[in-house]
Amino acid sequence: VLRCPHAHARVRKVDVAAAEKMPGVHAVIHDGSPGADIPWHTDSKGKAVSRLFDPHCRHEGEEVAAVAAETPRQAWDAVRAIAVEWEVLPQVCDVEQALAPGAPEVREGGNRTAGQSYARGDVAAGFATAAAVVERTFRTATEMHTPLEPHGCVARWEGPRLTVWESTQGVYAVQGQVAAALALPLANVRVIGHYVGGGFGSKLSTGKWSAIAALLAKRTARPVRLFLTREETLLVAGNRPANTIRLKVGAKADGTLTALECEATGSGGAYSENGTGLVDWVVRDLYSCPNVRTANTNVFTHAGSERAMRAPGHPQGAWALEQALDELAGKLALDPVELRRRNVPLVSQARGGTPYTTTGLRQCLDDGARAFGWEEAKRRAAASRQESGPWARGVGMAAGLWVGGAGGAPATGIVKLFADGSVNLNMGASDIGTGTKTVMAMIVAEELGVPLEKIQIEHADTATTQFATASGGSKTVPTEGPAVRAAALDCVAQLLAMASADLKLPAAELAWRDGAVVSTADDTRRVALADISEMKRRRLVTGVGYRARNPDGTVTCPFAAQFCEVEVNRLTGEVRLLRFLAAQESGRVMNRATFDNQVYGGVTMGAGLALTERRVLDREATGKLCNRSWHDYKIPTALDVPAELVSLPVDLPAPAANAIGAKGLGEPVTIPTAPAIANAIADAVGVRITDTPVNPTSLVEPLAAARTSRTTRPEGRA
Ligand code: MOS
Repeated sequence: VLRCPHAHARVRKVDVAAAEKMPGVHAVIHDGSPGADIPWHTDSKGKAVSRLFDPHCRHEGEEVAAVAAETPRQAWDAVRAIAVEWEVLPQVCDVEQALAPGAPEVREGGNRTAGQSYARGDVAAGFATAAAVVERTFRTATEMHTPLEPHGCVARWEGPRLTVWESTQGVYAVQGQVAAALALPLANVRVIGHYVGGGFGSKLSTGKWSAIAALLAKRTARPVRLFLTREETLLVAGNRPANTIRLKVGAKADGTLTALECEATGSGGAYSENGTGLVDWVVRDLYSCPNVRTANTNVFTHAGSERAMRAPGHPQGAWALEQALDELAGKLALDPVELRRRNVPLVSQARGGTPYTTTGLRQCLDDGARAFGWEEAKRRAAASRQESGPWARGVGMAAGLWVGGAGGAPATGIVKLFADGSVNLNMGASDIGTGTKTVMAMIVAEELGVPLEKIQIEHADTATTQFATASGGSKTVPTEGPAVRAAALDCVAQLLAMASADLKLPAAELAWRDGAVVSTADDTRRVALADISEMKRRRLVTGVGYRARNPDGTVTCPFAAQFCEVEVNRLTGEVRLLRFLAAQESGRVMNRATFDNQVYGGVTMGAGLALTERRVLDREATGKLCNRSWHDYKIPTALDVPAELVSLPVDLPAPAANAIGAKGLGEPVTIPTAPAIANAIADAVGVRITDTPVNPTSLVEPLAAARTSRTTRPEGRA
């Protein structure tokens, strides 16, 4: 794909004649090619504001033309041979530039879009009754999506039918979007997504690459493989938007929160109005507080659009809220765990005071603090700071909740039990690396009493599996699990009905046990699966299960509390993560290994937000992306994760939530991590860094200032 090399430019002319003559080249498409006039990027009213190869490029990396060739190198050579006449236009890189007087407009109608706002109670009155107030402005940097496997697909036509093998979180989402783009019936578009090398939200929706691959495959009558390079994914595959959050919190002397006020700005880039989506959710709902006001503003910039990234908005909001609460605890001479304990909510205040099915926040705080050894760790860290060496220890904690994770209808599972006792499970959902298939197979194994090895899974194929919503929002297990369980139970019900004829007993007096239908009164009266007369004729029994609607009058959310011990070098600003414990309440723990793996991954990503990740644009000159590789964009490596990383599942089955009692886990883990680290750093060196990433560059100056006033430095915490 030939991409715009400028942050903002207009294509005056594209000349592909030379490219078309290059060796190995089969097709070159661009704006104006037949079938390429496809609307793309819609505004909040659903109106398309761009198209597949739009000549007005509003960020670096926008698609200008595409080449299909025998080999990738021939294709890249041909891309370089395309001549483009550019009109380079002035750009805005960030909120400050975009809102400056006279700034170029990214989109017609101005660079600011009205965000959501929220209010309950009387914030002014709430602050008036507060014994202590903290007000600060926090900033988070833009984090770029960096799944190990880049984004892309293979497209192949057979007559009127298109098959797309896509690395995606949702095959049905891609099917719908590709069919719409190419004006095809849904039935003619088959999307298969059996394996996904990481998505984290960036593979929830379709990229232009899928439409481009399909167009090129049609033009060439050949299968086309189009995967992005790492650099391309950094330009176009989405990001967690940078946010500026002004937050004010007030509490009574006993720690009861009286008011919370939050104003957030962020940029969704050139095409998304979602630069502040869900940033204020933890402010609205993590703690009991009668008086809350929040306001969000999105600003357009000439940069790649945001895409959902692991718990959209929440880590940014928690970065602000959980640091402000830490400081508030210091002012009130309260332990930070105790401050949170005094504000645990039992209802979702932002959803009309609706009760939670379960609220594990208190257990996360209590069990987490105990398992971490919070009190001893605090004392140990304080003692270490009396020593004269450069390394100072500190401990910090933070809590979180995730707005989603309840799951819900629709979901359908199909379980085929064969006469030999082996099983096919059919479900439409993608396993995005979280172990969904393992968990689903466990549910079937448990209900049917068959070993896991006897279960094979058909999944994530729009031609052969059931409809499933995309695997995102930490809802796949609570969405699909109940449907799969119901399908297995449907098999059992059918087996009992069939065996009733053989055993001459009513089905209600029968049970399915160890591969046979047995009388509940007399287990010598039994018929093995393969001997059931009806089974001999049918050869298999097919159970179908549907996900029930969530109960009215309740809200289901996962909760978390995390604890961190760091060592900070007072001279160089180097931060070492020594110990980290994540206490996570996500309903029933379905599988300990996949649970722990979500915890390790979520904490690692949170450590990236806290300490290393930051998109850098050349804001003073070209607006281009500066750190466009895994060398220059720093995600945590094995050396950066906490030396001791403990997953503490708070196993609290939520039977009222759904038929398996589980809630989502993947996203809630990453919400409190960064502020827990920042709070530990503040404890260690008495310096609070409000902007991510916290690194030697941001720490050295405040540390130097703190050194000169060392003798008068307040401890800042009870
Ligand atoms: Mo997620 S950010 O809903 O994959």
